Amino acid sequence: MDDMYREVILDHYKNPRNKGTLDPADFSFEDDNPLCGDRIRIDVRVGEDNKVKEVAFSGQGCAISQASASMLTEHIIGKSLDEVKQLSKDDILELLGIELGPVRLKCALLSLKVLKAGVYGIKDED
Ligand code: FES
Repeated sequence: MDDMYREVILDHYKNPRNKGTLDPADFSFEDDNPLCGDRIRIDVRVGEDNKVKEVAFSGQGCAISQASASMLTEHIIGKSLDEVKQLSKDDILELLGIELGPVRLKCALLSLKVLKAGVYGIKDED
């Protein structure tokens, strides 16, 4: 793992951005990583321009899951809901900047799974 990226990930893990909950939120969703049972919840407030105004995440998990959730929340502020719907696995990997095996990939993608299910208003059956 590249040292610079490792440091960034550890910083997000230790000092998570946008950690907490929003009440009320325009939409919220919570789900788990079936491999470990760790859960993440994401609350989003949307502005009148249909862009993400505020976002918060809560829940517990490993460093990768928490860091990717923290990075993802920073990344989507100011984005339209359509742009959020377009986010992919590659966007998360680009934010993290590291290669991941299949187990860690599930950790990294947990927050995206939760966010997308919230945006689409559907339960993501994994
Ligand atoms: Fe549970 Fe990574 S070990 S989310």
